[in-house]
Amino acid sequence: MDLKIMSVPTKPYDGQKPGTSGLRKTVKEFQKPNYTENFIQAILSAVASVEKLEKSLLVVGGDGRFYCEDAVQIIAKMCAAHKVGKLLIGQKGIFSTPAVSNLIRKNNALGGIILTASHNPGGPNADFGIKYNISNGGPAPDAFTNKIFDHTKSIKEYLTVPNMTINLETLGVQKFTVDGVPFEVEIIDPVSDYVALMKDLFDFRQIKDLISGKGTHKKPFVVTFDSLHGVTGPYVRKIFCEELGASKENACNADPLPDFGGEHPDPNLTYAHKLVERMQKGTFDFGAAFDGDGDRNMILGKNGFFVTPSDSLAVIGANATCIPYFAKNGIKGFARSMPTAGAIDRVAKEMGKELFEVPTGWKYFGNLMDAGRLSLCGEESFGTGSDHIREKDGVWTALAWLSILAAHPQASVESMVTKHWEKYGRNFFTRYDYENCEDAGAKKMMDHLTALIHDGKIIGKEFSEAGKTFKLAKIDNFSYKDPVDNSLSENQGIRLLFEDGSRLVFRLSGTGSTGSTIRLYGDCYEPDQHKMKMDAQTILKPLISVALQVSKLQEFTGRNAPTVIT
Ligand code: G6P
Ligand code: ZN
Repeated sequence: MDLKIMSVPTKPYDGQKPGTSGLRKTVKEFQKPNYTENFIQAILSAVASVEKLEKSLLVVGGDGRFYCEDAVQIIAKMCAAHKVGKLLIGQKGIFSTPAVSNLIRKNNALGGIILTASHNPGGPNADFGIKYNISNGGPAPDAFTNKIFDHTKSIKEYLTVPNMTINLETLGVQKFTVDGVPFEVEIIDPVSDYVALMKDLFDFRQIKDLISGKGTHKKPFVVTFDSLHGVTGPYVRKIFCEELGASKENACNADPLPDFGGEHPDPNLTYAHKLVERMQKGTFDFGAAFDGDGDRNMILGKNGFFVTPSDSLAVIGANATCIPYFAKNGIKGFARSMPTAGAIDRVAKEMGKELFEVPTGWKYFGNLMDAGRLSLCGEESFGTGSDHIREKDGVWTALAWLSILAAHPQASVESMVTKHWEKYGRNFFTRYDYENCEDAGAKKMMDHLTALIHDGKIIGKEFSEAGKTFKLAKIDNFSYKDPVDNSLSENQGIRLLFEDGSRLVFRLSGTGSTGSTIRLYGDCYEPDQHKMKMDAQTILKPLISVALQVSKLQEFTGRNAPTVIT
């Protein structure tokens, strides 16, 4: 049957500007008439303005949250109408974000459309998201997402093939003819290509020996995972249970659910508290949690020892040669996002490698990787990854940690981290999130801080809290010039740098769907061995008090306490 292309008249919606990681809104918003269609049309128009969309290959899939399958059907119809040659789609519309990045690269696809709101809750009354990744497998850069946004503002019609429906259940190729032009869809197993990639990067035999307690390990190393009902469940079961011998019962919440069981699929101490509690019982040696779409991770050691993401990056960096991929290819350079604590900087210095400080958002790492200057990077927002793909990668991070532990018989997560601190000193870090504040209050606070930058009088001022005095050396709004394409990204977070090296950062989250989330980051460096094991909250409390004093956060937002502390 020859299917027909149809043009549907439409009108722009306000606010379809992609944020830190694509367009994130409530499901209800995406379900408004033509809302999803408009945004997909804008993506396809933006792609067509710079690349040849006709006969191209695109990868499509998401984290399985509510509305994913509907969105896949819409995308398939619209791609067919734009004469895309073929779509690679995960069975039931499911792919983890790292899996999409891998498939784009492996198949030389033009790009991919990822359906996820990452760590935001899902379900009919929660969030959905759409993100475009380019041919290197990474999130579209700002210049491209601005193009998408421009199209959303002037859209008048979209193209679709109303009578085409994809069978998302059955693996294999489905062929269609649209206005005489062939169009193909291939439904693939979401897990297998990703597993093959991990086998290439890591020594599975070595990790298996660690888990089963073979040879020098003497006793089994008991591992547990929490997929928070996100997309990683099937990946965890295949890799850690089937391939590496972890017990099936220890792969928790491994059935993806469209509403993540009603919880936040965000691997941090607040939303993954069940894993924290399980680890605190002392029966597990290693625990990892992953977010809804599988790119974020949280690493815990025995008794719930928490590895802050900034330290996780530094420990992986310092022990990179334990990972076959790095042992073979070497380390080209390191990078972190600006609010991430500088533990990796010390590793880079010692190894004589370049270190890049980029704005928040994984998209900023892509150019450096493509230019062959970056191998390993991470963010305080529970993201770590390497140039094996162009997204951060939760399961990869757990495998990286297990590889390092496998190369250090009898070591624990805690001993790896404390030895690291002994050698390099410790960068204490904390982040306070004030989620869902009223937009106006959050804006006033940022305006107030911006005024302090412009006024400049605050420089040199001393702030005393709980017996500690901090003298302000510098205040600015972080901007970044990409060293590869010279593009400039401004207003990426207000920084207060103190004379003793302590630092405060304020920024508004770019991943929320409603209201404003204020993030307050604080860090300091401590070389004193006696203070190494102190609680980060205790160490950083005076600094945070300074932050609240300077920003007048409580006054502007009415909030007396953060909703999440990391
Ligand atoms: C996503 C991005 C990360 C980013 C994080 C922070 O996970 O992929 O690269 O660090 O969001 O987002 P925020 O909410 O702080 O803007
Ligand atoms: Zn995510």
